[in-house]
Amino acid sequence: MKVIAFNGSARKQGNTAILLNLVLDELKSEGIETELYELSGKPIKGCIACYQCFKNKDQRCAVEDDIINECIEKMIEADGILLGSPTYFADVTAGTRALIERAGLVARANGDLFKRKAGAGVVAVRRAGAIHAFSSLNNFFTIGQMIIPGSSYWNIGFGREIGEANNDNEGIQTMKTLGQNMAWLMKKLKG
Ligand SMILES: Cc1cc2nc3c(=O)[nH]c(=O)nc-3n(C[C@H](O)[C@H](O)[C@H](O)COP(=O)(O)O)c2cc1C
Repeated sequence: MKVIAFNGSARKQGNTAILLNLVLDELKSEGIETELYELSGKPIKGCIACYQCFKNKDQRCAVEDDIINECIEKMIEADGILLGSPTYFADVTAGTRALIERAGLVARANGDLFKRKAGAGVVAVRRAGAIHAFSSLNNFFTIGQMIIPGSSYWNIGFGREIGEANNDNEGIQTMKTLGQNMAWLMKKLKG
């Protein structure tokens, strides 16, 4: 079994990556393969509403000049998907949004490609707006018939400068519990 985690931060190895890695470490300790994919430096454009994916039905986005199809392939092959984003203006980053729009529409055009995979969102935040960003991530999972594991709090970690998320003890525990619950869920789903 494998989990693919996308970090939608503009900063590689920042607070969002720290939080995602805490979840991935728990998954690894349960024998699940993991990959962290940084979107930073790899711009994804938003959906252009060509609806070609509904005509082609080939599990691909028809706009081929960025990394979106590589991301969709990774989602298809994985058993679980993590979407991580810092909070930007009380929502997810533009890159995360573009990933959601395009992977989400291709999934719908092809009969809900990620149906009954496990999925969870993780959010880094300095002060406010994280719960809205978290909802934006969850909208991707719920419309796609995915199954979301819970944790001991909403999946949020606090920090501004890179590394500060390591000081948020409750955030750290939330990520660890999320990883444990995601592993438990994936094993049940594999049945
Ligand atoms: C463009 C931009 C907008 C931001 N908007 C918010 C915000 O609305 N609320 C907040 O608490 N922090 C905001 N922040 C701070 C980041 O969410 C915070 O520094 C986070 O830890 C960054 O995660 P990263 O290290 O993974 O990039 C913003 C940062 C940037 C660059």
